[in-house]
Amino acid sequence: MVESVVIMDESGESNPYLLGVYAPVQDEITADELTVIGRIPTDLNGVYLRNGPNARFPMRGRYHWFDGDGMVHAVHFENGRARYRNRWVRTRAFDAESAAGRSLWTGVMENPKDNPFGNARGLPFKDTANTDVIFHRGKVLASWYLCGTPYSLDPLSLETLGIDTFLDTLGGDFMAHPKVDEHTGELFWFDYGPRPPYLRYGVVGPEGGVEHCVELDLPGARLPHDMAITRNHAILMDLPLYQDLDAARQGRYRLTFDRELPSRFGVIPRRGQAHEIRWFEAKPCYIYHVVNAWEEGEEIVLDVCRVSRPAPYGGGSPLARMISYLKLDARMYRYRFDLRTGRTSEEYVDADHNTEFPSIDARSTGHPTRYAYNVSVADAETNLFDGLVRYDNVTGAKETYYYGPGVYGSEAPFAPRDGSTGEDDGYLITFVTDEREGRSEVQILHASRISEGPVARVLLPQRVPLGFHATWVRAEQLR
Ligand SMILES: [Fe+2]
Repeated sequence: MVESVVIMDESGESNPYLLGVYAPVQDEITADELTVIGRIPTDLNGVYLRNGPNARFPMRGRYHWFDGDGMVHAVHFENGRARYRNRWVRTRAFDAESAAGRSLWTGVMENPKDNPFGNARGLPFKDTANTDVIFHRGKVLASWYLCGTPYSLDPLSLETLGIDTFLDTLGGDFMAHPKVDEHTGELFWFDYGPRPPYLRYGVVGPEGGVEHCVELDLPGARLPHDMAITRNHAILMDLPLYQDLDAARQGRYRLTFDRELPSRFGVIPRRGQAHEIRWFEAKPCYIYHVVNAWEEGEEIVLDVCRVSRPAPYGGGSPLARMISYLKLDARMYRYRFDLRTGRTSEEYVDADHNTEFPSIDARSTGHPTRYAYNVSVADAETNLFDGLVRYDNVTGAKETYYYGPGVYGSEAPFAPRDGSTGEDDGYLITFVTDEREGRSEVQILHASRISEGPVARVLLPQRVPLGFHATWVRAEQLR
């Protein structure tokens, strides 16, 4: 397959996150007649959606992987058939640039002072809605990592339905990875920024409006990426990675990791007031993604992918720094917070394998889960996912599947099969891209035996650039 359009930034540098498996695509496609190798299980019914950066126009200034316009790729499975579709998220910024026919914003590697507008807190970067896709109340929300406006999409047509401010109750920004409790219909979120209040925590009720929101006190501006819920609590993070304020005063965006500060985990009742939060201290680290959390008696268990060295040493050009900061190096890790003693214990679940982008059976978010399905991060300069890893919390067993040389996957959510009775009674779904041929496909694996490889492969009409987060929406949720 020949790439007809190459999007570059204005730096003139060869940015690997704009090339090869990362290169943006320019076509929005709807495809019904897809070649299938193997057989799509007829008890796999629902839609796999994955978000990611896909720059429409060459960037003003340097391009950071997090800057690209959000594009959602989706495959709808129904009675053994598959349909593919991809669409950009029509954010306000995307529409403004489309009307202008060129890029109007700079990315996070440039001084943003001349950008047209930013998020609700006034952070002047482009809200690309490129980070996650979350299903709640019949719609998909596209979210942004620096905290922005949730955009709602139709889960099948991928049409952008508009800004979702939860019945005009949001009153601010919305982070990338809210948590949905399917049992209560609630959605838990936070909002953070460089100025006080540094952190707001809230709950969207089953009727669709924010029913609870509190401002939480932090020692300074932080960069929380994810959160957790349990049956009765929410868990928020204060990790010692933050924006360098001296650099910020000079209009530059630079991160600092303070190894002298602890990591802190705030446990608050789901509808608790600010003074009810209890902070648990642990060794310094950074955490992008939570696997899951739950309660065991008076203890809270929190499983994460933990980064022990979030700010790699070494200078080099801005591009070299961007590449080294972006490179994921995380380990499966478990915290226990004892609500009686206030003590934290922490240990590796897997000290050896660099795995990230975890997923679980979403029906059990906040409740005990036995299995986690992570991607294996390849030993490469850039972020490439070379396989899948399944962790068993009960036996400690680990099962892996590798795609093979030059073939890279996406986050692979668990898709329960029709009538599923357990958190591995179903499939894992992932986009897979072959860098040599520039082709992509969807692979379907049995969640209970991933090492056997895909039971079906659906060939796609275009390459799916490597991206960020994915979700699975069950057919019964679409009705
Ligand atoms: Fe993320």
